[in-house]
Amino acid sequence: MITFPEGFLWGAATASYQVEGSPLADGAGPSVWHQFAHTPGTTEGGDTGDRACDHYRRYPEDLALMRRMSLGAYRFSIAWPRILPAGTGAINRAGLDFYSRLVDGLLEAGIVPFATLFHWDLPAALQERGGWANRESADWFAEYARTVFQALGDRVRHWITFNEPFIVVHEGHVLGEHAPGHRNVYEAAKAAHHILLGHARAVEILHQEIKKGEIGITVILSPMQAASDAEEDRHAARLAEAYQNRLFLDPLFFGTYPEELDEVFGDAWPEAFRTEAAGLAAPVDFVGVNYYSRVTAAANPGVFPSFREEAAKTEGRDRTQMGWEIYPEGLYEVLQWVNRRYGGPKLYVTESGAAFADPPPAGGRVADPERKAFLRDHFLQAHRAIREGADVGGYFVWSLLDNFEWALGYSRRFGLIHVDYGTQVRTIKDSGLWFAEMIGKNGFEERA
Ligand code: FCB
Repeated sequence: MITFPEGFLWGAATASYQVEGSPLADGAGPSVWHQFAHTPGTTEGGDTGDRACDHYRRYPEDLALMRRMSLGAYRFSIAWPRILPAGTGAINRAGLDFYSRLVDGLLEAGIVPFATLFHWDLPAALQERGGWANRESADWFAEYARTVFQALGDRVRHWITFNEPFIVVHEGHVLGEHAPGHRNVYEAAKAAHHILLGHARAVEILHQEIKKGEIGITVILSPMQAASDAEEDRHAARLAEAYQNRLFLDPLFFGTYPEELDEVFGDAWPEAFRTEAAGLAAPVDFVGVNYYSRVTAAANPGVFPSFREEAAKTEGRDRTQMGWEIYPEGLYEVLQWVNRRYGGPKLYVTESGAAFADPPPAGGRVADPERKAFLRDHFLQAHRAIREGADVGGYFVWSLLDNFEWALGYSRRFGLIHVDYGTQVRTIKDSGLWFAEMIGKNGFEERA
């Protein structure tokens, strides 16, 4: 029997723009994702988050489902433009009330709320002022964080400042495949630094003014392997590690940026950022780890960021519907890596999960054996990391519900619960039923 430590939190995660729908309801302002998705050619099938899972209106039903699945914790994100429609200034009470009701519902059900302040839906009004590339964004974020802490800090004890800032930087400002859809390395570098400044401010506010609760940041980590033994590919893997895995954690824990960033960003990475990094070493209470797959890096000289991802070394392995290699050992590897490199911080797996082409519900069931196997294999690797000393306090499956998978729209289903987007009928998938049973035992039979 594989048993997890007592009090281990088992949960599921979602994000505001991906599940809520009604993005402009009750006084909310538009977000960058609302505007991006409404721009032709940005998302698969022209899908938007206008309706999504209608969670904004159906959250009581979703709470009941969480209860049925015996979830111990729920990770959700707060839509900044619902709280401050113009990004700063006037507060929209109706927006705060929505999250207040959600939090009350969770507490009543005995489910621990984990609130993420920023899961990518920046108020569009702030993008007009330059978004994360504007240094003032750190102040905007601090104002927003304080507003939310004051409204919910009496009940929410677990806070996450940012979800995967790397993706905001890379997909949003380098590749232009996520909102705000920019392709500008200079903006990308600034966005990274300003997000960290904003993070540090929010941590300080929570610790000094709210006092109760713990706060951390969620990063996406991938083991990096070189595409070949050639020195330039091994070098590419080191650059990839600095850019994706260390960019946001080194300054928090060591007060320094990885040296390699000079090479990764070139002249887009100013000396001033390096000097300011010392001020970023604010003590986080935990690190949230999102893990999906590993990266194979090959040299790609002359272009930013001078390496590219390759599939070569991982051919022949099973992949999810995202095309991502299924590599459960990678979860063990990244948990051990953070544990060792950063001196054993408290950790939560804040996302791990998979999209598969699930069959439609039949007779009230959805048969998704691949997802069950995927979860089980990843849980085992988390267990292995814990056994070897990593202080992992909980695990959130991505995702509670099938939802709007960003630029891929509704074409990829990650949920433990199937959503029929036409009727909004929810069906707990077989993997979700298995997960519920596993939560009840806080573990599973090794050979089940
Ligand atoms: C992560 C995101 C999450 C979801 C999963 C599949 O990068 O944080 O919102 O889209 O990928």
